[in-house]
Amino acid sequence: MSEARAATAVAGTNIALVKYWGKRDAALNLPAAGSLSLTLEGLGTRTTVRFSDDLDADRLVLAGTPADPRATARVSAFLDRVRARASARARAEVVTANDMPTASGLASSASGFAALAVAATRAAGLALSPAELSELARLGSGSAARSIFGGLVEMARGERADGRDAVAAPVAGGDWPDLRLVVAVTSEGAKSVGSTEAMERTARTSPYYAAWLASVPGDLADARAAIAARDLPRLGAVAERSALRMHASALAADPGILYWNAATVAAMETVKALRARGCAAFFTIDAGPHVKVLCAYADAATVDQALLRTPGVLRTVVASPGRGAHVVQMDVA
Ligand code: PMV
Repeated sequence: MSEARAATAVAGTNIALVKYWGKRDAALNLPAAGSLSLTLEGLGTRTTVRFSDDLDADRLVLAGTPADPRATARVSAFLDRVRARASARARAEVVTANDMPTASGLASSASGFAALAVAATRAAGLALSPAELSELARLGSGSAARSIFGGLVEMARGERADGRDAVAAPVAGGDWPDLRLVVAVTSEGAKSVGSTEAMERTARTSPYYAAWLASVPGDLADARAAIAARDLPRLGAVAERSALRMHASALAADPGILYWNAATVAAMETVKALRARGCAAFFTIDAGPHVKVLCAYADAATVDQALLRTPGVLRTVVASPGRGAHVVQMDVA
């Protein structure tokens, strides 16, 4: 290990417009299909990794509190990969906090593992390329591979068994500052079924899983073309279709996986009503009940107000496109 011992990185969360739902390899988090997302500004994770020869075990502090053994073990396993790469043995203290509002519905492993990948490698004295960082972040969480990059990002399915080609990259024309994503929070609770388990059950039992996978390449091509043409209605149509098809495949699993509540459906109706009035707004939904609405800057206030008036919507967050994961501080021992 070189003498760099501590580094702090920040990463924004990302929301998929073409969803990732299903793995071709669970151990390596290799996706069964590609995906495409928008990295967000100001809604993410800030993580400091400090390697020290004085520690006898890795430590994880989450939002100022020591983390439970399960979360610590997941981070420690991730650090083992970094140590192996750096031929290092020192244990680390990892201090991490999300800068999104608590229970915003955006707290995600995507920004967490992207920030951890950047901070841990730099603290260990490694200088990885963005593609290598994306590959590493993917091992923590599939969607984290995308938060290494800013703006609109495409994650490749890859063909290789070792996952070297299952990495993300910026989409051509994907720096689109006019985009906004309005998040409608519809519940305070944790999600009912975690994404890893839900993907696995969908793949194993849903008769619609094969059809879902077959639909993804066409949606990716359509999304790329919409981005190149700066065509928001076209990109929004892909996003709605992809989310509904992902949820349809999960709903058809056995037992079925339903992430929506009454407010989720009401918010979808609000978006349709906005569109009927000429407002270019389009929804997407992840593995939870919150609704995220894609629109242009000029319409964000209208969309925000309409969502806040929707029965069951607790609060909203208006997010802009953001940068990829990056180092904000280095300390050399
Ligand atoms: O990265 P994971 O394993 O939490 O999976 C993310 C799954 C979705 O958020 C539902 C879709 C996506 O592409 O982000």
